Amino acid sequence: MSELDSDRETLAGEASDSERVSEESLRPRTLNEMIGQERLRENLAVFVQAARQREEALDHILFYGPPGLGKTSLARIVASEMGAGFHATSGPAIERPGDLAALLSNIEAGEVLFIDEIHRLSASVEEILYPGMEDFHLDLLIGEGPSARSIRLDLPRFTLVGATTRAGLLTSPLRDRFGWSARLEYYPVADLEKIVLRSGRLLGIDLQKVAAREIASRSRGTPRIANRLLRRVRDFVEVGRETQGAVALEAVRYALDRLEVDGAGFDSLDRSLLGTLIDKFGGGPVGLETLAAAVGEDKGTLEDVVEPFLIHQGFLDRTPRGRVATQAAIEYWRSR
Ligand SMILES: Nc1ncnc2c1ncn2[C@@H]1O[C@H](COP(=O)(O)OP(=O)(O)OP(=O)(O)O)[C@@H](O)[C@H]1O
Ligand SMILES: [Mg+2]
Repeated sequence: MSELDSDRETLAGEASDSERVSEESLRPRTLNEMIGQERLRENLAVFVQAARQREEALDHILFYGPPGLGKTSLARIVASEMGAGFHATSGPAIERPGDLAALLSNIEAGEVLFIDEIHRLSASVEEILYPGMEDFHLDLLIGEGPSARSIRLDLPRFTLVGATTRAGLLTSPLRDRFGWSARLEYYPVADLEKIVLRSGRLLGIDLQKVAAREIASRSRGTPRIANRLLRRVRDFVEVGRETQGAVALEAVRYALDRLEVDGAGFDSLDRSLLGTLIDKFGGGPVGLETLAAAVGEDKGTLEDVVEPFLIHQGFLDRTPRGRVATQAAIEYWRSR
């Protein structure tokens, strides 16, 4: 995730420190532990096995898709399945070519360098990364003016794993240098239910199956949100109840209502976008800038976090003339 959410507590957004610790503890560590994304996992398993058989580094991989679907988890899984070291950084953290050189000179053959938010690499860093990815060397300019000279740094064969919520912002030379780009999809409720039950086991929360399913169906297709709702449900349950035993459906419904997550799994920002689009702009079409201003939200957040799920649910269309609410959205909005 980017700075987009720093001023706002979205369910999908940045977590607090304690939540980050717990998010770490809930991360799947291997391909087998990971739930859902079957096609992606099957393909990745083949590429890993092939690379291991050839005793080569895995080709560079790009994971893209909305926040909280498992890109960072997958990057770690790639390293662990390869039995290789893992180094993590992010696009904005690599300010100068020298920073990249420093990172890469610490990497050994076969190891994984993970660059999160790779769409935010600066142009100058990207340029020296190209030969690094393709031919495994860096050309660095040392010094300034007439005495400047270029030195070549040879690199071991490493694997770059990039992640981004905004594949559209990657330059095509960068995109083309990945051997494989994989898109993460929103999770169906059945997968999220398994994820909630697994997280419940890891956190010591005893959940009825229907309760897990309710959380799953209100999580915007997103494991991070499912885990976060689970923790909030636990808070309400621990503070509020006298009875013991597994968390029941009513307790989950109560907690989710308190959190203002509605039956469709939409949170207040989803509703704010839909309400503005339908009530204020007659369902559209309306340009993103105008919509963002009317909602009072950053347009990047709308574009990366809010809209993709509404589009996935068939509630929103992006047209050349602007955003349009679908019939389904209008019916949902009227029937609330
Ligand atoms: N397939 C999965 N099975 C189980 N848990 C998952 C799965 N995918 C994601 N999670 C959980 O969701 C959390 C968020 O996943 P992750 O950090 O990998 O998402 P991300 O795509 O990198 O998000 P961002 O774009 O915000 O960086 C993880 O901590 C993990 O607990
Ligand atoms: Mg991530």
